Amino acid sequence: MGSLSWKHARQPVFLSITLGFNGMTSSPSSRTPSRAESLRQRLDRHWPTAEALLRRLYAGVPDVEDWLVRMRNVVSTAALNRPAPLAERDDRRLAEPDWFQRSNQLGYCFYVDRFAGTLAGVQARLGYLADLGVTYLHALPLLAMQAGDNDGGFAVADYRAIEPRLGRTEDLTALAQAAHGAGMALCLDVVCNHTARDHAWAQAARAGDPRYRAYYHVLESAESVAAYEATLGQVFPKTAPGNFTPEPALARDGGQAWVWTTFYPYQWDLNYANPAVFQEMLEVLLHLANQGVDVFRLDSTPFLWKAPGTACRGLPQTHWVVRAWRALLAIAAPAVLLKGEAIVDPDDVVSFFGRDDATGLPAANECHLAYNNGMMTALWLAQATGDAAPAHALLDRLAVRPRQAAWITYVRCHDDIIWDALAALIPQETLHRVSAFYAGATPGSYALGAAFQADGDGAPSTNGMAASLVGLRPEGRPGEADTDAALARLLQLYQVTLALDGLPVLYMGDEIALTNAPLAGLPAGEGRWLHRPDMDWNRAAERHDSATAAGTFHTALRRLIRVRATLDALSGIEPARPLAGLPPGILGFERVGARAVLCLANLTGQAVTVSLPTTTDAWRDAVAETAIDLTALPLGPWQTRWIVAAGPTSEVAP
Ligand code: GLC
Repeated sequence: MGSLSWKHARQPVFLSITLGFNGMTSSPSSRTPSRAESLRQRLDRHWPTAEALLRRLYAGVPDVEDWLVRMRNVVSTAALNRPAPLAERDDRRLAEPDWFQRSNQLGYCFYVDRFAGTLAGVQARLGYLADLGVTYLHALPLLAMQAGDNDGGFAVADYRAIEPRLGRTEDLTALAQAAHGAGMALCLDVVCNHTARDHAWAQAARAGDPRYRAYYHVLESAESVAAYEATLGQVFPKTAPGNFTPEPALARDGGQAWVWTTFYPYQWDLNYANPAVFQEMLEVLLHLANQGVDVFRLDSTPFLWKAPGTACRGLPQTHWVVRAWRALLAIAAPAVLLKGEAIVDPDDVVSFFGRDDATGLPAANECHLAYNNGMMTALWLAQATGDAAPAHALLDRLAVRPRQAAWITYVRCHDDIIWDALAALIPQETLHRVSAFYAGATPGSYALGAAFQADGDGAPSTNGMAASLVGLRPEGRPGEADTDAALARLLQLYQVTLALDGLPVLYMGDEIALTNAPLAGLPAGEGRWLHRPDMDWNRAAERHDSATAAGTFHTALRRLIRVRATLDALSGIEPARPLAGLPPGILGFERVGARAVLCLANLTGQAVTVSLPTTTDAWRDAVAETAIDLTALPLGPWQTRWIVAAGPTSEVAP
């Protein structure tokens, strides 16, 4: 590439090479031999994995052999069309495969329009993010979305176009380039489980085209709908009950038709039993990867495959689809990462990192990243109950994560907090109590959140910005007792999260303790917009002013981020190990490493003194930079400490 432009060669490059099914022979081409040679190596290494998975998934499909050849050609073409700066970036990333696990990594998640209006607006705010220490941008859905209701962009009308309100394809590549230049990776959602009802495929299906009808799950009798419903859960039991939507336009021969819609009626689940669907989504991934996207958040990952008589969540075939994408991306865009969005039972989430087929043990062959929704939920629960035990138990369970894969750790995101994801660990009665607590509906609760919905008798999930859930009033000022307590709780959630193993992702506005969106103007029935306010740039302007809540919090959080970057043990590789023998209200875990870190958090509003057995008295609080006595360590209300052995310290950036 002569310039920095990442435009694709219009003509597929593979026309100039011969791609044999058993290998690839390069012939004279405009590409350098090393490019073709490295493609050949990656094909040798990853194609057998992809092929085996695809054969498992699509064995009975007619013409599968031809289709496999086409798949190989599709990835080879994408590999050869990969813009040179991105191919070079791949090489650099592959030379440091743990880059996303390092303790200097920090994510930031935002809706483009709410954060900065447009993609160009986001680009203009990179300096703000860089100052905070952000190295990973997760822009929530920004592809062309269905007009009207679109679930915040999670109803995609065109995977090849940017939502016009937000910008154009050029703005996305420009943002990717600018982000890369600023040392940041770009993560985008790929809404792979469903399309919008007005996506061209769904439109063609409704117009009677059988090819596109076969892209979706269409049921033709009330009995078959009822049979499936008998074993399915519900994601939006109140706002979108059931999993099927009548769609007369799909009916044949005067019959009836229902389309599978796990989420909203306008989100049509794709049929991954059809290899054409697998291919379409693969091509979307390859296309976006070659625009400069570094990480794909695979939306609603557990739901991809359906089988009668099951809950249709996390079926083996779902894992094979994701593993096949990973192997194919490893050929075409080798440094690109997959992030699974599976907000399910913690043991099931671990399965999205992958498994070794032979042993059944966890292996890093599926998603590089997955949300640690378990610890996120357990931390909120811990603050509400003052009981660290569930979080400790969870840390033990989560330690099976393969070391080459990492958690996304977080305090809040754009979705509700789903208490039921902990149903296998925590009694229902406790989950209901905590849900009511965060809705501000129990005596003594400080929380300013709202209950959302629950499946069956489960505890209703919770909506609200982190700052509101810890009880911060929008106008709260430091020095007021309730404001100070709320800020201490918010800082604790972030200090613990930043010390867990994983890539921490801040949710937009949390860095300035932004509270809930104003109630007036929220869409009726969809409570999640409570925690999707516009970024308050006036509040952000106060971020260095210690007389404000925003300033107090931003200063403290920014310091934690900087200290974390100097503590290698806080990387995402070795898991956090819970400490035994602590009082019930104290959460404690160790992060091993050349210089181990202990994280101790007082989950209660009462000051306590803890005593840990130690053979040395040379300990320091890494944040306060003070010597401490581990045998008599005071912890104030909601205070957290990162404790390291005394010794030479790395310099913390200003
Ligand atoms: C994911 C998104 C959520 C969306 C759903 C359906 O869970 O995070 O916001 O409603 O998928 O696309």
